[in-house]
Amino acid sequence: MINDAPQVDVERLVGELQALAAISDCPEPPPAVTRVVFTETDLRARDYLRSLYEAAGLTVRVDPIGNTFARWHGSDPKASAVGTGSHCDAIPHAGMYDGTVGVLSGLEAIRALQASGYQPRRSIEVVMFTSEEPTRFGVGCTGSRLMSGAMSPADLAKLTDEADDDYDTVRRRAGFTGELSEVRLPGDYYDAFVELHIEQGPELEAGDLAIGAVTAIAAPAQANFTVTGEGGHAGAVLMPRRRDALVAAAEMIAAIDSIARASRSPDLVATVGKLEVHPGAVNSIPSKVTFSLDLRDIDGANRDAVLKQIEVETEQIATRREVQLEHRTLNADPPATSDPRIVDAVVQSATSLGQAHQKMISRAYHDSLFMARVAPMGMIFIPCRGGVSHRPDEYSSPEALAAGVQTLALTLAELAR
Ligand code: GLV
Ligand code: MN
Ligand code: MN
Repeated sequence: MINDAPQVDVERLVGELQALAAISDCPEPPPAVTRVVFTETDLRARDYLRSLYEAAGLTVRVDPIGNTFARWHGSDPKASAVGTGSHCDAIPHAGMYDGTVGVLSGLEAIRALQASGYQPRRSIEVVMFTSEEPTRFGVGCTGSRLMSGAMSPADLAKLTDEADDDYDTVRRRAGFTGELSEVRLPGDYYDAFVELHIEQGPELEAGDLAIGAVTAIAAPAQANFTVTGEGGHAGAVLMPRRRDALVAAAEMIAAIDSIARASRSPDLVATVGKLEVHPGAVNSIPSKVTFSLDLRDIDGANRDAVLKQIEVETEQIATRREVQLEHRTLNADPPATSDPRIVDAVVQSATSLGQAHQKMISRAYHDSLFMARVAPMGMIFIPCRGGVSHRPDEYSSPEALAAGVQTLALTLAELAR
């Protein structure tokens, strides 16, 4: 047990977040960040993290897809470890806090506990998960999916990027070799896993709260739709003869929005964030359109029912507009529930620090969604300005970061006793 609030060096943490943000492929300067898995930039970010881990005396292990574990050894080497951490990849034009805060706060929490003289019985380990974001391979959380057995090595190896290179080839090219089957964690590897993350929503800020103790993570699903109509000359083909793929897709997207708004669950959200129009010329009728669907709900059964309804209604639109429609579900994951023991540890830690807190759900997904399959899981949320995330103006104040790291440090200390 540690009795005093752990001394967190928040200036050092902010400096490290900024240094990481400078390792970016975004055409705009930081705080705008783009860092896609297995690029040169991703590899440079990994090197930077490794240098920090080694300076803190942690033992670093990298698995065959680049999931990186930095361990502070506990006094009982046979005891299952306590894990924390998050991801460092960033979607195009992202901010500098999503994921990175969880990785660097894990490190800062360990440094604070080391400085306090605390000795853990269980080892404490910071994990940097490979590719939480779906940017490159279309499916998110590939690192934790494989670790937890939620996805098979064979299915992972087959995922392809826009250049049609498969995951297995791309990870090898980036220097990550070894058998994919070795990524899966044994069931007793972690005694507990707790991830700190910015909320990415407005509730904590609105309630003037410092800490959210996450009780459950919403169920995410993703699908791709392809609409095929008939192209032609924009001047010569008269309206009655048209089978415009983009007009059909537009109607489908509007229908998806209406279905989501009418859902019985207030937590159901649907987003079409990607649209490709072929041939993409001003004076040519679109012949083919593909669009993405991101669909989530804390109620997994309702999410599935809504997905079905979307499939039925988009088919009806396709029939009426005389276009062809294909849809493919990429993933439809169940929700995850936090372990009450970890939620309690977070609540107790925040209480003892005098930090205003509440229990809440996570609407965003995280690697913890999959870690819950192999370990008792919990999450700590900290507020971000305006609830803004997945945008360059994403921001968490040094005070918010400090409260989060202190709560994480006390939680880890309790769980690793
Ligand atoms: C994670 O980035 C998510 O989209 O929830
Ligand atoms: Mn994200
Ligand atoms: Mn994230």
